[in-house]
Amino acid sequence: MLSLPLRPRRLRASASVRNLVRECRLHRQQLILPVFVSEKAGEPQPVRSMPGVVQHSLASLVEEARRISDLGLPAILLFGIPAEKDEGASQAYAGKGIVQRAVRAVKQAAPGLTVITDVCLCEYTSHGHCGLVEGHGSDYRVVNDASVELLARTALSHAEAGADVVAPSDMMDGRVGAIRSALDAHRHHDVAIMSYAAKFCSAFYGPFRDAAESAPQFGDRRTYQMDPANALEALREVAIDIEEGCDLLIVKPGLPYLDLLWRVKERFELPTAVYNVSGEYAMLKAAAMNGWLDEKRAALELMTGFRRAGADMIITYWAKDLVPWLDEEA
Ligand code: PBG
Repeated sequence: MLSLPLRPRRLRASASVRNLVRECRLHRQQLILPVFVSEKAGEPQPVRSMPGVVQHSLASLVEEARRISDLGLPAILLFGIPAEKDEGASQAYAGKGIVQRAVRAVKQAAPGLTVITDVCLCEYTSHGHCGLVEGHGSDYRVVNDASVELLARTALSHAEAGADVVAPSDMMDGRVGAIRSALDAHRHHDVAIMSYAAKFCSAFYGPFRDAAESAPQFGDRRTYQMDPANALEALREVAIDIEEGCDLLIVKPGLPYLDLLWRVKERFELPTAVYNVSGEYAMLKAAAMNGWLDEKRAALELMTGFRRAGADMIITYWAKDLVPWLDEEA
C-alpha cells in the first residue's frame, strides 16, 4: 500500500458522504420559468426550435401558472407576442395589451406566484429592434432616449397590471433609472427592477426569436447589446444599472459567460440571476433527441455549473422538468 497523506477519494466513497461535502445545491425555489403568451394563439402553439416550449393563449397561460405554482416554482418571466406590431411599439405599453392582460389574469389565478415581466420593444416593433428606429436600410439607427421613454411607459403599464418585478432586456442607456423614476412617480415603490445588466449580442438567442417572433427584420443588435469579447465593459454596465437603482441582476447568456457571472457576483454582491437562454436549451434538446446526451444529467450539470459560478437564481426553460429531477436526486 502506498502511504499517501492525502486521499481525496475518501470523501467520494458513498452517496451519503458525497452529499455531506457537496458545495453547492440547487433548489426549485431558485428557478424562474420563462413563458410566452400570444394574442394570436387560440390554443398553445409549439415552438419548433424549442421542444417542450409553447406560445400560450391567455387561457392556457392561466392554467400553466396554476401548475407552475402547484409545483412550488416561485416565479415566471413573462413575454408577450401582440397581434399587431407597429413602428412605435404601441402594444408594448397598451393598458389592454397582451402582457398587461396576462399579468392580471395570472395574479388572480396564482397570487403567490411572482410575476416578472420582460420589458423590451422587440416583440412589438414591426422591424423587430429593441428600440425605436430612425432611417432605413443600411442607414438606420436605433435611437436611445426616445426608446427609454417608451420602455419606462411599458414597465409602468406592467406594474399597473400587477407585475411584481420588471425586467428590462433592451440594453438602452439609462433605462433602469427612467423606469425607477416612472414607477416611483406612480407609487410603485415596491415593484423591483431585475436588470438584464450584462447582456451580450449572442447567437444563442436564435430559437427565442422564433418563440417571441422578434427577429430584427434588418441589421442586428450590435449597437445596443454587448460585444461577447468585453468583460470589463460588462462590469461597467452592471455598475451603472446598480447606480440607477436596479434590485436584481441578470447575466445573459449563461454558458459562454460563466466568468462574468462569477465576477459580477463577487464584485457587486447583489442577487444575481443567470439566463440559461434558448440556444443553450435547444442544443442540448437536439443532442438528447438524437440519443447523444442524457438530457437530465446534462441539464442538472449545467444548473450546478451556474450555481457554482455564483448564480442565486436560474432563468431556465427546464424549470418544470427540474422539479422532479431534483427530487430524484435528493
Ligand atoms: C428581448 C429578449 C431576448 C431574449 C430575452 N429577451 C432576445 C434578444 O435580445 O434578441 C433572449 C432569451 C433567450 O434566448 O432565451 N430583447
